[in-house]
Amino acid sequence: MRAALLALLPVLAQAAVVDKRTASVNVGSTTADVFPPASTSVNSQAFPAESVVGYPGLTVTGVEPAAIQTATAYAYNSGQSNSYPLVADEPQDTPSTSKFDIFKYWGNLSPWYSVPSSDYGLNDASPVIPENCTITQVHLLYRHGARYPTDGAPPSAFAARVHNATQQKGGFTAWGELDFLNTWTYKLGAELLTPFGRLQNFELGVAFRQQYGELLNNFTEAGTLPVFRTESQDRMVKTANNFAAGMFGVPEYLDQVNIEIVVETNGHNNSGAPYETCPNSNIASRGSIGSTAATAFAKNAFNGTIARLQNQIDGYTITSTDIVAMLQLCSYETDSLGYSAFCKLFTQEDFENYEYYFSLSFYYNNGAGSPVAAAQGKGYLEEFVARFTQTPLTTSDSSVNATLDGSSTYFPLNQSIYADATHEVVLLDTLTAFNLTGLFSTGPLPTDKRTNSSFSASKTVPFGTHMVVQILECADMTPTKQMRFIINDAVIPIDQSYEGCSWNKDGLCAFDTVVAALQKRIAEIDYNYDCFGNYTASPGMDYNGRAPRS
Ligand SMILES: *[C@@H]1O[C@H](CO)[C@@H](O)[C@H](O)[C@H]1NC(C)=O
Ligand SMILES: *[C@@H]1O[C@H](CO)[C@@H](O)[C@H](O)[C@H]1NC(C)=O
Ligand SMILES: *[C@@H]1O[C@H](CO)[C@@H](O)[C@H](O)[C@H]1NC(C)=O
Ligand SMILES: *[C@@H]1O[C@H](CO)[C@@H](O)[C@H](O)[C@H]1NC(C)=O
Ligand SMILES: *[C@@H]1O[C@H](CO)[C@@H](O)[C@H](O)[C@H]1NC(C)=O
Ligand SMILES: *[C@@H]1O[C@H](CO)[C@@H](O)[C@H](O)[C@H]1NC(C)=O
Ligand SMILES: *[C@@H]1O[C@H](CO)[C@@H](O)[C@H](O)[C@H]1NC(C)=O
Ligand SMILES: *[C@@H]1O[C@H](CO)[C@@H](O)[C@H](O)[C@H]1NC(C)=O
Ligand SMILES: *[C@@H]1O[C@H](CO)[C@@H](O)[C@H](O)[C@H]1NC(C)=O
Ligand SMILES: *[C@@H]1O[C@H](CO)[C@@H](O)[C@H](O)[C@H]1NC(C)=O
Repeated sequence: MRAALLALLPVLAQAAVVDKRTASVNVGSTTADVFPPASTSVNSQAFPAESVVGYPGLTVTGVEPAAIQTATAYAYNSGQSNSYPLVADEPQDTPSTSKFDIFKYWGNLSPWYSVPSSDYGLNDASPVIPENCTITQVHLLYRHGARYPTDGAPPSAFAARVHNATQQKGGFTAWGELDFLNTWTYKLGAELLTPFGRLQNFELGVAFRQQYGELLNNFTEAGTLPVFRTESQDRMVKTANNFAAGMFGVPEYLDQVNIEIVVETNGHNNSGAPYETCPNSNIASRGSIGSTAATAFAKNAFNGTIARLQNQIDGYTITSTDIVAMLQLCSYETDSLGYSAFCKLFTQEDFENYEYYFSLSFYYNNGAGSPVAAAQGKGYLEEFVARFTQTPLTTSDSSVNATLDGSSTYFPLNQSIYADATHEVVLLDTLTAFNLTGLFSTGPLPTDKRTNSSFSASKTVPFGTHMVVQILECADMTPTKQMRFIINDAVIPIDQSYEGCSWNKDGLCAFDTVVAALQKRIAEIDYNYDCFGNYTASPGMDYNGRAPRS
């Protein structure tokens, strides 16, 4: 030990010598980049607007928000910028001396927030490019920002039930904590992005420009504009537009990027909406075992809260379905209207159970516990690999539309920046297809009780969730071409995911090694069987996203 210390001394002495460098002759000179390239404009013939594409899905508007008078507090920008300008009450049992970050317990209804890499075991990693590496290409897959509830979600069903109760003889009477319910109305629309949702995607675009803008120089050099993709649903079109507005500015985005709108509707191949061509994804014993597990969990998780609230209402029987709906109203009203009176009905433990409810739902519907997640994510997996290897995707057995992906106009293979917008279920399907086992490393989630797990819904599928894949040139590594995966700012370890990768503190692995493993993964995902086969799956298993064989 002592000998080792002594041996270090000369090194330390050397380090103390100040390394003096002479200033470069370029110091103080002006440098600049020029994007967009001269005489380019968007190709509105090849990339028509939403009004031409059609298939916007449901577009139900809600009431105009009025948080300036409905909220109990003003939304100051305190540095918690992931939720500005939303306001939420603390859970009712939070001591006045402490704080509970309620926004992190809303599963897929949480505003996205930065997750530390240490949550997945990389204690020293950061999304900043490691020393001696330079970024040469970036791939972004991102979810739309906050939206109204989807068609048929629990909140509107709850509204219908309480409305029905008022139509019965005697109606209902609520008091105490539930007093506000006596005058409450349902103010939400359906499916559309909310104002806060627009902000989330705009902000993501601003951040992306700041972080990766340098890669636009590649387009300038080539004299072409980027192609970014989205789906035809109204909120998806608006998501891509808000992202582009943040990235390129208003009104510049209208003429600096081609936005490709791929039709999302039943029967149409679309890697961004694979459930439209994968029948098993919609079957209870296959694609939605997570929903079943979550509902069963909720039946036992909220008994104390049900009893407490039932004591404050006559003429209406509160069930666990109502509790989940009221928790969702807390999230949805806040995300849409800026404030919700429902949040303070609940305790910290209620919110922890609510988050776990979503974790169960997503782990078993779209994560490792799903038999049909990898198949649904296979389309994006194939597209990523096609871009990595610059190989046109002219055939596929998955949700890929090979007519589009075989075309260099619609599916360019030489971009330095890719940005695709999608849904949270598809993003998680994709992570599952990518075999990113680090996300699920603590094994299948128990369905009967809440536990801590490496998988958490608000960390993987929140509003604005995004996966970034960095392709790097690292001078002192062999080979020099490396890559890594970043999910909501957490760098993910990939040494267990891809054969041939070893543990690396920055989450790096050789590009060719990862691509070879992903090609193997593509080959092993049996889209036809997983999406169309006759099998039964159940929650509680780690299927690594693939259907069981009997
Ligand atoms: C980066 O390169 C320099 C010069 O070759 C070397 O001294 C340094 O250790 C490298 N840093 C890392 C983190 O590898
Ligand atoms: C309305 O409430 C009554 C009394 O509880 C019930 O019998 C009826 O099924 C309800 N109707 C609807 C449409 O939920
Ligand atoms: C593929 O996309 C083209 C162009 O949008 C469309 O006409 C075609 O119907 C799609 N094919 C399938 C199988 O969805
Ligand atoms: C919660 O209540 C339900 C319905 O009354 C009951 O079946 C269940 O056993 C209770 N669970 C717990 C953990 O108390
Ligand atoms: C659409 O997907 C199916 C597989 O689900 C595939 O057989 C077909 O070739 C695809 N069509 C196109 C145009 O990509
Ligand atoms: C990609 O290749 C096409 C066809 O060769 C070319 O027109 C385009 O400028 C290239 N784009 C980039 C970003 O290099
Ligand atoms: C973008 O340009 C940089 C600098 O010339 C280069 O190192 C990088 O390889 C280019 N990226 C792509 C995807 O061509
Ligand atoms: C989960 O982890 C947190 C923080 O480490 C701890 O406070 C909590 O008790 C754990 N919960 C369970 C159910 O293990
Ligand atoms: C996926 O991950 C598992 C678990 O680490 C590993 O055993 C398997 O080899 C990986 N699959 C591929 C195709 O790399
Ligand atoms: C699926 O398999 C089950 C169990 O083997 C069988 O009862 C059922 O008839 C099959 N359904 C179809 C559509 O083949």
